[in-house]
Amino acid sequence: MAPFLFARVVSVRTVRALRFSTKASRRFEFDSFDICGQRYKTDLHTNITQFIVALTDRKLYKAASNPIRLISDSIRHYFKQFDLFEYPSPVVSLDANFDSLLIGKDHVARKPSDTYYVNEQFVLRTHTSAHQSDCLQQGSQAFICIADVYRRDAIKRTHFPCFHQCEVFKLFSSEELNIKSILAYQENVRSDQCQESYTIEASKSVENDLKYTIEQYIKELLGKQTQTRWVSAYFPFTHPSWELEIMHNGEWLEILGCGIVENRILTNNRINDKIGWAAGFGLERLAMLKYSIPDIRLFWSKDTGFLSQFKNLTHADNMKYTPISKYPQCIKDISFWIPDEDTFCEQDFLEIIHSQGRGLIEQVDLIDKYTNKKGRTSLCYRIIYRSHERNLTNAEVNEIHCNIGIQTELLLNVEVRE
Ligand code: PHE
Repeated sequence: MAPFLFARVVSVRTVRALRFSTKASRRFEFDSFDICGQRYKTDLHTNITQFIVALTDRKLYKAASNPIRLISDSIRHYFKQFDLFEYPSPVVSLDANFDSLLIGKDHVARKPSDTYYVNEQFVLRTHTSAHQSDCLQQGSQAFICIADVYRRDAIKRTHFPCFHQCEVFKLFSSEELNIKSILAYQENVRSDQCQESYTIEASKSVENDLKYTIEQYIKELLGKQTQTRWVSAYFPFTHPSWELEIMHNGEWLEILGCGIVENRILTNNRINDKIGWAAGFGLERLAMLKYSIPDIRLFWSKDTGFLSQFKNLTHADNMKYTPISKYPQCIKDISFWIPDEDTFCEQDFLEIIHSQGRGLIEQVDLIDKYTNKKGRTSLCYRIIYRSHERNLTNAEVNEIHCNIGIQTELLLNVEVRE
């Protein structure tokens, strides 16, 4: 195990002095910041960092030669009859991201450990479903919306705090379904198969359209031989709900969530005589499958060795990404005493790693936890560093690792063990 080389750069005394001069409650170095041209004030709810703010400008779904752009093009092509809505800024109200989608006040998705709060009033959208109501209010009967979304999550090859989704949404009238009545005359009871407000006939017919439409798209994108399966799921804004999984290297991978839109969402938007389906795709997953891309950070790479492989491709072309070469990992551990279990937030620690990591962090795992006789708890995390573009030097990894230790002490009130 590589020891934490903290003492070499800054003495413990210097760091402790720094820590005590920083107000514990002042977690951010700035009072306001700009996101997509709009200024927002920070407050005690703010948990986004400059690192995250910088991602909001990249717009990978529009960037030339980026595989996310190619997937976006393929969706726009397949769903060309649908209206296209764009919302360049990821900042949305709590109402748009949660309430309008019937997500309860105590739902876990609202926790600051899972969601980026700009301040008390605004979050970075955690899904493109946040725009459903707005698109409906503009009178659209069928639409897609492609955008960057943000979630606080573990650090590994398949997760990054920003990723991309496409919302697909389609409404039907009874004429379009060729069904006498889509609304149940008398409120039925809700069953596993159908909401109380709709007839089974209407619900099943929309379910068939949903599953057919999505499967056709996936087969067009990934090939006819692609094995798929539907699994029952739960979302507060659809019922019934499903996830679509794809077989890849002997494993089922989840690539989208969908379902029959809760009637209450339609009636809240003054649509009283329709039924519809909604689906949310993850673009990174699709790109990783289509082009065999092994690590989600690669989409953010500006390295020509990566981007040049996608240059001049159209969404209809197939290709497999060839790793330029495999640079080695560099593994370092960090252990620290935490103040107590309730005040230590792992997500805040991961945020520091992102902010300091210069895009070089492949994975972070908690590998040891121990409480001594006095009741103090120590955590040990393993951080795996790797660049996809070059060999890392020990000195530069040590410097980053060191900075992570310093920032963690300063901001999270822990004591790094040496
Ligand atoms: N918004 C959901 C998610 O991000 C996906 C979804 C979209 C589910 C539309 C149902 C309907 O997980």
